[in-house]
Amino acid sequence: MTRRIELSPRLRLAADLVPEGARLADVGTDHAYLPACLLMEGKIPSAIAADLREGPLSRARETAAEYGCGDRMAFRLCDGLSGIRPEETDAVVIAGMGGETIAQILEAAPWVRTRKIPLVLQPMSSIPELRQRLGEDGFHILEERLAREGDTLYVVMRAEAGEEPAMTPAQLWAGRQSRDPLRGDYLRGLLEKLDRALDGLSRARDGRAEDRRRELAALRQELLEMREEWEAWQR
Ligand SMILES: C[S@@+](CC[C@H](N)C(=O)[O-])C[C@H]1O[C@@H](n2cnc3c(N)ncnc32)[C@H](O)[C@@H]1O
Repeated sequence: MTRRIELSPRLRLAADLVPEGARLADVGTDHAYLPACLLMEGKIPSAIAADLREGPLSRARETAAEYGCGDRMAFRLCDGLSGIRPEETDAVVIAGMGGETIAQILEAAPWVRTRKIPLVLQPMSSIPELRQRLGEDGFHILEERLAREGDTLYVVMRAEAGEEPAMTPAQLWAGRQSRDPLRGDYLRGLLEKLDRALDGLSRARDGRAEDRRRELAALRQELLEMREEWEAWQR
């Protein structure tokens, strides 16, 4: 019986967004479940599993050996994309890292932009900052999707070199509007977070707090409109 790797919903969504037939670089691979799974499914012909640390990379080697795909996987101990040559890869996944780290990794590898390499990005934090920096650094977010694991919703982005029209504050917070079935829950979660921030500010009395309160109130209004639009699509 052929063994299969069952990916978590977050990694499954990232894997689904990898272009068919791409020689994939998985940066920050850890166990290398994503590239190993795609190799076993026959969606990609080869992969480079890269990680900053030896421990995760040896876990990647173990996965490849366990599932018999080590002949199609190369392993690189490196920071970001620094150990990967442009001509070796057709697509890049960076999943399970902070948004700032993802942005730094892309900034340090300008060939990703000049070669218009398809990117699948799955930030765990600093997501508005990542959206902002991608736009500033010459990347266009083609699509954002959501995956649920327990109570947590994860954002997965598909991006590539291109012009990103300026985003409004709510678009930086929540991404551009989409019909993703989990979008309503995602917007609800962001509104709850915003309400907590507004609640905290309501006790502050200085002028800066008042400016921030006005800013967040405008953001809240825009998020509410996004949620109403999404709910209208569901009817
Ligand atoms: C939380 S794991 C994510 C593993 C897998 N990509 C996933 O999404 O499940 C993050 C991995 O990124 C690696 N990492 C962190 N910073 C990195 C960098 N600058 N370059 C390469 N790998 C990095 C860590 O060593 C760790 O193995």
